[in-house]
Amino acid sequence: MAMMISSLWQFCFLSLALSYGVVELQASHHVHDNLQTTQLTSTQPQAKEPYRTGYHFQPPKNWINDPNGPLIYKGIYHLFYQYNPKGVVWGNIVWAHSTSTDLVNWIPHEAAIYPSQPFDINGCWSGSATILPGGKPAILYTGINRQHQQVQNLAFPKNLSDPFLSEWIKIPQNPLISPTLANQINATAFRDPTTAWLGPDKHWRLVIGSLRNQAGVAYLYRSKDFLYWVKAKHPLHSQKKAGMWECPDFFPVLKDSSTGVGVDTSTYGPHVKHVFKISLNDTRKEYYVIGTYNPSKDIYIPDEGSVESDSGLRYDYGKFYASKTFFDSAKNRRILWGWINESSNPKSDIRKGWSGLQAIPRTIVLDKFGKQLVQWPVVELEKLRTTEVKLPSIVLKGESLREVLGVTAAQADVEVAFEISDFRKAEALDPSWINPQILCSKKGASVKGGLGPFGLFALASKDLKENTAVFYRIFKSHNNYNKYVVLMCSDQSRSSLNQHNDKTTYGAFVNVDPLHEKLSLRSLIDHSIVESFGGEGKACITARVYPTLAVDGDTHLYAFNYGSESVKIAGSVWSLKTAKIN
Ligand code: FRU
Repeated sequence: MAMMISSLWQFCFLSLALSYGVVELQASHHVHDNLQTTQLTSTQPQAKEPYRTGYHFQPPKNWINDPNGPLIYKGIYHLFYQYNPKGVVWGNIVWAHSTSTDLVNWIPHEAAIYPSQPFDINGCWSGSATILPGGKPAILYTGINRQHQQVQNLAFPKNLSDPFLSEWIKIPQNPLISPTLANQINATAFRDPTTAWLGPDKHWRLVIGSLRNQAGVAYLYRSKDFLYWVKAKHPLHSQKKAGMWECPDFFPVLKDSSTGVGVDTSTYGPHVKHVFKISLNDTRKEYYVIGTYNPSKDIYIPDEGSVESDSGLRYDYGKFYASKTFFDSAKNRRILWGWINESSNPKSDIRKGWSGLQAIPRTIVLDKFGKQLVQWPVVELEKLRTTEVKLPSIVLKGESLREVLGVTAAQADVEVAFEISDFRKAEALDPSWINPQILCSKKGASVKGGLGPFGLFALASKDLKENTAVFYRIFKSHNNYNKYVVLMCSDQSRSSLNQHNDKTTYGAFVNVDPLHEKLSLRSLIDHSIVESFGGEGKACITARVYPTLAVDGDTHLYAFNYGSESVKIAGSVWSLKTAKIN
């Protein structure tokens, strides 16, 4: 499966003959030279386009990718993002900019950072914001310079009394960090600076993603004044054969997560653990580890058992990439943004006039056992909830189906929990079934079982010819028969009658003990996205789908149980209002 995804997303090398020699421009996105200025030609009103979402962030048209430099300033949330102002495929990248007071409704602004100087004339790529002591925001971003090298630049707001931070000034000292012969850094794989943090010595640190001899590398830099940056002797982290590490993120989380509170990026000490995340260019998957950071030595040691491979931890086991967190100082929480890329092809993107969305921002805390993160849609989203349809506790008998009526099934928020009382029919987990995604694709929603599959048919047509199935299966653990393993799947194989989309099925194991805990499922359904949170946010899967029958009023929602054992379901479904976005 990984092979399939990587071949879908093969990264592209452009060889550019330059006056001083040949530099390879490595871009991680498909580079469609001939399409970079192609826009929607039809005059069809955007609102009628069936895949436009009602409450996920997107601009009116064109290509978007990574969320950049999210921050809060004077009570206003800022989201910048990679944007092609001229077309529907990746290219001509600027930092587009929107602001919000509630993380739900957004107003657009002029692009904040766009190519204008020798150090970024070929693109303003991803980066992060740091709030300096005193409250001044700073943006560090990767510029693609005249020689197509990736260099790191700094910009400040022009006017600090403007809460919308509409204009940004690039400082004359740019570029601040460049690949050179001396530092032996790969000039085409050196990008996406993190938010900087202050160490106990009052020096700043930041990390930049890179590639060295096929190893993924997170180079660490230090600075006294935020202007002059020196590469540390050792990277913060690296991994052999991993391929290019894009969009690293490094931040503390409280060990005691019971308050649900997050902490500023410059926090360290025995009360926190540190999360290190990378976006793996070769597979378009993200992995994170939890570990211990010693800020005086700048040594980061991931906890035992944490690895960045297919058995590693992921924020989201579906379409979710190039993510970034920020500390929301107004509400003391850490919020995660991630890009939902398309599962279609450029032809259909051109037809619909846009490509890419941002996932619903999620609060992120450490799980009470300290082994993984837990994510939940920001609470503000709930203000879009209108009609509530309560599902009183009902028994879903084996091989049964129930339609949820009375909601706008194309735009809804589902929160349910399943309860199992008899575990005898749970199948034994074969010890070779270690990859949940492969297991879910073998045992899709239509494969009947003992305990499960049970869950939701979202974005379903009346006859179920189309549906995105989000469901659980419960297995007996092979080494302890009193323990159960919970598998969560998102099966897109019937999501659309259109055969030309990527319909990969996704899966994750969820660390919930169904003997003693209810098994919850929240799904945010939004026309062409089903963003699901299993086990109260322990496993998340985002599906990007293109129904042809299950469109607007013809969309249905079902709860189903195709296992032979009964399960109980209870919860609520809300119709959601449309947010005002850009
Ligand atoms: C991730 C990424 C970043 C880069 C940006 C360019 O999707 O490839 O590494 O900065 O996109 O748009």
